[in-house]
Amino acid sequence: MSLVKNLSLIFKCVPDGLPIPGKHLVVEDRPSNISRAPDGGFVTRNLYCSLDPYMRLMLIESSTRHYRRPFVLGQPMRSLSVAEVIAFSHPDYHTGSMIRASLPIQQYSVVPRMPGLTAFSSIYEVGRIQPGETIFISAAAGAVGQIVGQICKLEGLRVIGSVGSDEKVDLLVNELGFDAAFNYRQESTSSALQRLAPAGLDIYYDNVGGQTLEDALASMAQDGRIIVCGMVSQYNSTYKSTTSESTYGVKNLFQLVG
Ligand SMILES: NC(=O)c1ccc[n+]([C@@H]2O[C@H](COP(=O)([O-])OP(=O)(O)OC[C@H]3O[C@@H](n4cnc5c(N)ncnc54)[C@H](OP(=O)(O)O)[C@@H]3O)[C@@H](O)[C@H]2O)c1
Repeated sequence: MSLVKNLSLIFKCVPDGLPIPGKHLVVEDRPSNISRAPDGGFVTRNLYCSLDPYMRLMLIESSTRHYRRPFVLGQPMRSLSVAEVIAFSHPDYHTGSMIRASLPIQQYSVVPRMPGLTAFSSIYEVGRIQPGETIFISAAAGAVGQIVGQICKLEGLRVIGSVGSDEKVDLLVNELGFDAAFNYRQESTSSALQRLAPAGLDIYYDNVGGQTLEDALASMAQDGRIIVCGMVSQYNSTYKSTTSESTYGVKNLFQLVG
């Protein structure tokens, strides 16, 4: 068995607040045998890995209950990756096949089986979008938000996005076809929503949480739906921490009853 050098991004210890490179996340060599694929699986040379906000939520104690399974302490973090197959034992793959899969973040991975792709069904199954409705999307220029907005435009909705710069406003309105966008650093979400959606929101697609969620809640129309995709503004805060910022307390949850 010949082992090769395999640099890997290891979840070393649980952060409180912002993770510190070299302390909580450490690059280490985890030598691997890449000459032979396991039964029904393959070995990959990893080319690209996606680093996404939700991964912060997985840097927690393994005993913590959460909607995503935590990363394993002492092991490589995982992410959606693009990789090249370099050894295989599966009829559908051959050397040189390019795959997209959830893989450990390292140079090479020994993959016992192919994980499935996640369907993105939130806007249809949770949002139940209808032509003519108004949707507000936060973090709208992000990987998720810009796809949601473009699909909603194709489906005939009025689409409003919030972003953190004027360049992103320009991108949304002039390149991606959003009906309106605003820079939340220049105008509060609450006043922008009153201006852009005076009749209320049919759907709020929440990527941010915190005060943005509070302001969107206050602007919801009767029978509105909120798609709770993520709350990126809260990922570095905790309920009980004394050293990091506290979680934002949304004050108008009673709106949900109405
Ligand atoms: N539920 C799921 O299955 C699922 C899957 C994928 C992603 N998500 C969630 O979807 C959201 C967006 O993910 P993504 O992959 O699109 O992210 P992304 O492309 O990395 O974009 C994230 C953007 O969020 C904005 N942002 C960051 N911190 C913020 C803050 N404190 N307040 C307001 N905006 C902030 C920034 O844009 P601005 O410069 O415009 O502020 C940033 O560029 C995240 O909450 C993520 O966890 C959920």
